[in-house]
Amino acid sequence: MLLDLQDVSRVFRREKTTVEAVKHVSLQIESGEFVSIIGRSGSGKSTLINLITGLLQPTSGRIFLDGEELTALPDAQATKLRNARIGYVPQGQSTISNLSVIDNVRLPFFLFPREGTPDAKAEELLTRLGIGQLADAMPRSLSGGEQRRVAIARALINTPSLVVADEPTGDLDSANTQAIIRLFREIADGGTAVLMVTHEVDTTAAGDRVYRMEDGRLTQER
Ligand SMILES: Nc1ncnc2c1ncn2[C@@H]1O[C@H](COP(=O)(O)OP(=O)(O)OP(=O)(O)O)[C@@H](O)[C@H]1O
Ligand SMILES: [Mg+2]
Repeated sequence: MLLDLQDVSRVFRREKTTVEAVKHVSLQIESGEFVSIIGRSGSGKSTLINLITGLLQPTSGRIFLDGEELTALPDAQATKLRNARIGYVPQGQSTISNLSVIDNVRLPFFLFPREGTPDAKAEELLTRLGIGQLADAMPRSLSGGEQRRVAIARALINTPSLVVADEPTGDLDSANTQAIIRLFREIADGGTAVLMVTHEVDTTAAGDRVYRMEDGRLTQER
């Protein structure tokens, strides 16, 4: 089992009220699977993703990555494990504006000491994503779809075992959307698990399993 969420919940406190954004979610993903989660705005999708990427801690429940309990590791160790094993494509615009495209893609490589250089891999990823010619451009000169592809290349630089993408096609036209879905399918077929959150039902066809998030609860659709 690559990713194993066991009865995970997250409660937020906002002034005097509490919001139960994620309620008792259990989910298992194997290597090579492409899993989609659909759900309305505010249903808890990003919260769930942020629990998996470790940006948030669950209020209760446990999360395992490749048998290691992410939620039990000290912060520094969990961060290192995530950097090595999880590729994260955040919701919205996430490129760093004062770094060139290729430097954005290389960045996660340099967050921890590693052997070698990321240069050849970064170039290969940009070419594979159809933006090889933009390597030295600054992100602000790119279209929304091109910037999204930079974020995807950046998520793949450390050869993760799991890619987590939060609305990766949110602001893209249908040609770019289809290209990204095809790419995720290819990545999964290569053995990397992909978990994608979306509110566009038509992007889920290429996935192996589809779940619906509704008011913090996750149920399988197919
Ligand atoms: N830091 C926070 N503090 C308080 N409430 C929060 C916080 N983050 C999220 N929430 C609330 O949790 C609920 C789920 O939010 P979340 O961002 O997970 O939804 P989403 O499904 O990703 O929505 P969208 O499709 O708009 O991105 C919402 O009601 C939101 O207001
Ligand atoms: Mg969201």
